[in-house]
Amino acid sequence: MCGIFGFIGKRSAAPLLVDGLRRLEYRGYDSSGIVVKNGNLQVHKKIGKVSELSKILPNHIEGNVGIAHTRWATHGGVTDENAHPHLSQNGDIALVHNGIIDNARGLRKRLTERGFHLESETDSEALVHMISIGIDSGQSPLESVRQTLNRVTGTWGLCVLFKEHDLIVCARNGSPLIIGKGEGESFVSSDPHALTQHTQSFYLLEDGDMAVVTRDGIDISRLEGGASSTGLTILEDEWGEADMAGFPHYMLKEIHEQPEALRRCITGRLDMANGSAKLGGLRLDPLRLRTVPHVRLIGCGTALNATKIGQLAIESLARIPAVAHVASEFRYNDPVINPNAIHFAVSQSGETADTLSAVKEIQLKGGDVHGIVNVVGSTIARTCGQGVYIHSGPEQAVASTKAFTNMVASLLLFAIRIGRTRNFSREKGQSIIKDFQRIPDLMEKYLQNPGPIDEAVELVKDAKSVLFLGRGLSAPVASEGALKLMEIAYIPCLAYPAGEMKHGPIALLEEGSPVVVILPNDKHREKTIASMHECRARGAKIILIHEEGDVEATEEADISIPVPSCSYLLTPLLTVVPTQLIAYRTALALGCDVDRPRNLAKSVTVE
Ligand code: F6R
Repeated sequence: MCGIFGFIGKRSAAPLLVDGLRRLEYRGYDSSGIVVKNGNLQVHKKIGKVSELSKILPNHIEGNVGIAHTRWATHGGVTDENAHPHLSQNGDIALVHNGIIDNARGLRKRLTERGFHLESETDSEALVHMISIGIDSGQSPLESVRQTLNRVTGTWGLCVLFKEHDLIVCARNGSPLIIGKGEGESFVSSDPHALTQHTQSFYLLEDGDMAVVTRDGIDISRLEGGASSTGLTILEDEWGEADMAGFPHYMLKEIHEQPEALRRCITGRLDMANGSAKLGGLRLDPLRLRTVPHVRLIGCGTALNATKIGQLAIESLARIPAVAHVASEFRYNDPVINPNAIHFAVSQSGETADTLSAVKEIQLKGGDVHGIVNVVGSTIARTCGQGVYIHSGPEQAVASTKAFTNMVASLLLFAIRIGRTRNFSREKGQSIIKDFQRIPDLMEKYLQNPGPIDEAVELVKDAKSVLFLGRGLSAPVASEGALKLMEIAYIPCLAYPAGEMKHGPIALLEEGSPVVVILPNDKHREKTIASMHECRARGAKIILIHEEGDVEATEEADISIPVPSCSYLLTPLLTVVPTQLIAYRTALALGCDVDRPRNLAKSVTVE
């Protein structure tokens, strides 16, 4: 999704801006641009990758102040004109903007009536002309931005550069923006990944904050006037640089990082002595856990699939109702919130607008929300103010893998914690924990010998569609496998609880249709095998993901991919891995851009 990078200091701005854009690339975008102040404001922008932009940049660009942008189209197509930065008519002001201006149509119309010629179809361009009207009437840079934003509805993370002033004006409302403070230089970005190699000292702007950023100072105020309470935060860069570590793609690297990431997530949290789990960030005492009426879990995409596993695990271990919700639906369905309930917002990026809106809706209605988040200091983490960091480390590939397994692991830890408080004995807890401790090693074992993935790829790569089936905890695993293959290989995929298949999707099956079946040795096994028979009887080819040693089941399959055995509750952590590999290798076989699939964004900051 859109990204912002800005710099003001003594160093040459252009190389830093381009490097910043490269670090934002993983988020997904379709065009990019920079503007550097060098007497005039010099804008360069181009559709396509940052490498395309680099090709049109002059060898040397003077100037040590500039702002830059990666655009993910919302208003207006993917064109050079619609790429940011946008310039005022006299060329004295440049703006980059993330978010959506809801009343842009009216604003554009009024500007046109006043004689402005708008160069782009974007909502963002209206802002730069409105700011220029303020400047022309004698307002300061900060005041002109403030007056403009007071006439605007919508969301923004924005930076504005002025030819006549040595500063950058920034503002945030609903779209993240972070200011980094270095020695005699300052940085701005929508994503801490782009800043951590420059500084660890940040101002994480809150909604309604504005800032004047200069080389030596950062002055933060509120949109409505007055000072802001946003202070300096030191972010420990526990992640370091995310490089490829010898892998051809981030996605493959991240799939292989799962055992280590899982160790990070569970280390210190498994409480063997008490047969329970310790989650320090959850402000939930035993009395609250005992009396909670229900648990609600909210997420999008992969995070939603993780919440569905969490839902089943919590119900099973704690015997209280739990429900997983699609975040983008949640707020608009005017949900009834019970303030005594426990709510979880699950998000890798911690910036997903749909999930954040759901958090705010719950809080507005008196509920409290715990975050299950990867990115430290992200908006959802801060808005919740309590929760669990999943510690996956940086996830650069757009398709989420290691964040999924750690979200699932974190929710399982919570299920153990609440289950132990309410329902089961120390001995049962200890036996689950013993199994949990083995999972990273079992993942490693599987990854060393992943089975006939390439044969599965041969079956799916030219298919019209692929059906994924599973029951119980394996139904969300099927959904996650389908999502992954769809996202990066662009193959239409359907995921169904296996028993539901005969109520509709069975009509799709014809000779050779690939069906991926997730079949751990659990209480659903026999029933899932029956569904598999129904598919085979209609000519389907079965790709079976099963537990090692289940010889009987493999007789029903065309391709069988064994994963190590473990207890039922933990099976999603292993059965999902072959689905990730099938998606990855299918995308490769089809020549797709694995790490940056078309149209997708790593962090979706618009609703
Ligand atoms: C799937 C994927 C998306 C995200 C979704 C939520 O591979 O990456 O479906 O899972 O956009 O993102 P987060 O977890 O950042 O809230």
